[in-house]
Amino acid sequence: MQAILARQFGGPEVLQLAQLPDPAAKQGQVRVRIHAIGVNPYETYMRAGAYAIRPELPYIPGADAAGVIDQIGDDVSGWTTGDRVYISGTAIHKAYGAYAQLAVCNADQVHRLPDRISFAQGAGLFVPYVTAWRALFGRANTRAGDVVMIHGASGGVGGAATQFAAAAGATVIGTAGSAEGLDVVRSQGASHAVNHKDANYLDEITKLTGGRGPDVILEMLANVNLDHDLTVVAPSGRIVVIGNRGRVEIDARKIMTKDVSVFGLALWNIPAEEVRRAHQAIVAGLESGALNPVVGTEMPLKDAARAHQQVMEPGARGKIVLIP
Ligand SMILES: NC(=O)c1ccc[n+]([C@@H]2O[C@H](COP(=O)([O-])OP(=O)(O)OC[C@H]3O[C@@H](n4cnc5c(N)ncnc54)[C@H](OP(=O)(O)O)[C@@H]3O)[C@@H](O)[C@H]2O)c1
Repeated sequence: MQAILARQFGGPEVLQLAQLPDPAAKQGQVRVRIHAIGVNPYETYMRAGAYAIRPELPYIPGADAAGVIDQIGDDVSGWTTGDRVYISGTAIHKAYGAYAQLAVCNADQVHRLPDRISFAQGAGLFVPYVTAWRALFGRANTRAGDVVMIHGASGGVGGAATQFAAAAGATVIGTAGSAEGLDVVRSQGASHAVNHKDANYLDEITKLTGGRGPDVILEMLANVNLDHDLTVVAPSGRIVVIGNRGRVEIDARKIMTKDVSVFGLALWNIPAEEVRRAHQAIVAGLESGALNPVVGTEMPLKDAARAHQQVMEPGARGKIVLIP
């Protein structure tokens, strides 16, 4: 099979197309012929050797993909060859092994992909949607009627969160940094789309909430925004830090005087039972039409290095997907 292999840590150029032996499904495993692979920012940190999970070299990056089961190991029930699935990690590792034509997964790492969802859409379900579900419902206790601000709604996690929150009956204010990104935010069910590059956008958010502020804020770039979030959040509001790329100074008095709760989350820490419930919610939402993943860019697998450059640039508009 063809796969992207990183033989060393470093810049995007370490991602090289390689010819590897086809893997085989062992007991309790299935093999998936991959049709599309989702690219996530953490894969760039891992590639640089700067991530909490540091694979042994060489390694195949990626944990998000969609395809068709083409081989089934012993003691696996409920699946047949030809079933359409999306994956959540691989048997190699929960956080890598997917930038390839074939991936072997443990049986609990494959999830049914409804016919109405394309493989490219299915490629961005695990990392973005499980993270968004955990942030909204596992951390911030989001309820119908809440105003949810998604600070960075034009990308993978923000788009997933916009769809989940709107489907749950929340009013969503989503931010983006480009005109195209703002269109993506509106198209996913946000009631309001606001440009986080505008000088007065935080005032706009305060106005949109009648002066009260959002009940819930999901934060994709805490090192830039956390203190601003504390300024605009509603009394007793809940802020979830999802993304962070540096240090930040905050006025902790704002947490105190408004009874604010600030939560963190790391996908890899989510308890297994909650991950299972998140996948149930994802499959149900895909089937009902409440969830519709947005694909911004498709490129061939061999262009993984270019995808890693692009995913770190501003101007997100849905997922970047690699096609093997
Ligand atoms: N904690 C976890 O377990 C976990 C899980 C998944 C992801 N993450 C992290 O969460 C972040 C988002 O992931 P993703 O997959 O959604 O990435 P993505 O698809 O690249 O999207 C990045 C988002 O951040 C927005 N952004 C850029 N500058 C911003 C600013 N100044 N204020 C607010 N938002 C800004 C982008 O908007 P524009 O491009 O439109 O400006 C875009 O909406 C990344 O840092 C990722 O590493 C963490």
